[in-house]
Amino acid sequence: MTADSHFVFLPAAASAHARHVDWIYFGLIGVSVVIVGLVVALLLTFGIRYRSGSPAPRGKLPEWVSREIEIGWTVATLFAFIFIFWFAAASFLTTIGAASNPLEIHVVGKQWMWKIEHPNGVREINELHVPADVPVRLVMISQDVIHSFFLPALRIKQDVLPGRYTSESFTADKTGSYDLFCAEYCGSDHARMGGRIVVMPKAEYQAWLDAQPGAENLAGKGRQLFTQLGCAGCHFEKGHRRAPDLAGLYGSYVQLAGGGTVRADEAYLRDSILQPARQVVAGYAPIMPSFKGTVSEDQIFSLVTFIKSFSGDREETTQ
Ligand code: CUA
Repeated sequence: MTADSHFVFLPAAASAHARHVDWIYFGLIGVSVVIVGLVVALLLTFGIRYRSGSPAPRGKLPEWVSREIEIGWTVATLFAFIFIFWFAAASFLTTIGAASNPLEIHVVGKQWMWKIEHPNGVREINELHVPADVPVRLVMISQDVIHSFFLPALRIKQDVLPGRYTSESFTADKTGSYDLFCAEYCGSDHARMGGRIVVMPKAEYQAWLDAQPGAENLAGKGRQLFTQLGCAGCHFEKGHRRAPDLAGLYGSYVQLAGGGTVRADEAYLRDSILQPARQVVAGYAPIMPSFKGTVSEDQIFSLVTFIKSFSGDREETTQ
């Protein structure tokens, strides 16, 4: 517990979402206390009033009383529940929905550390530096077992799975250093798999990024790898093309050979690198080899970032 917390007994709340979650938490406790208090009070009142041998009247209630009360409390609780659901769901959606143009940071979980890579290639381990008041989207994957990326100060937690990207979004609005935990039991050192998230003013974050050594643009790394692995031979071939064009691919809908379409998101790009025969683009032969075991998750991130970086300007990227 820190002084930043606007509620005692809770960790600091470093985002609007975090404060929202706290209101839901205390709102639900408040409602529960009122209901439990009401039930206990009625229980005691009736228990005493209608105890055995008491002279209290025991005649029937008029029918309209019980009917109107029944309808009244049913409708009231229904609306109360709908309101609570709406309030909580709206808050949750902000953690999975993508804000426009978020800062995308890649996270790879492994026994027992968090490897983090910023868009410009700066890497860190068990520490996540982010700018304040900027929407951040974490794209995460595990190299081995299931982990879970838990940031209590932001009230967000998301499982990190092997073989599948998951993401979580947040906009921290309070600078400071907060806990980072793994929240899924993942082996003997699970309890030590954590670190901290540092929320900095925007300018300070930029200065911090610039001061990190050896930063190489993530897309640039992907482009190097793209050439090294020989991808350019087919994907950037001029004239008759043996492989789909990658320009403008990200986010578009792709026609598949077997019929149907699929949206070219990060998961699709990753799958296409590891299991190219699974979702072949219509009009092409399934000749691409799998790069499973050849490239690490970090390298796949850089390839995916490289492919995402095309804005239709293919020539520029073939150099
Ligand atoms: Cu990783 Cu627990």
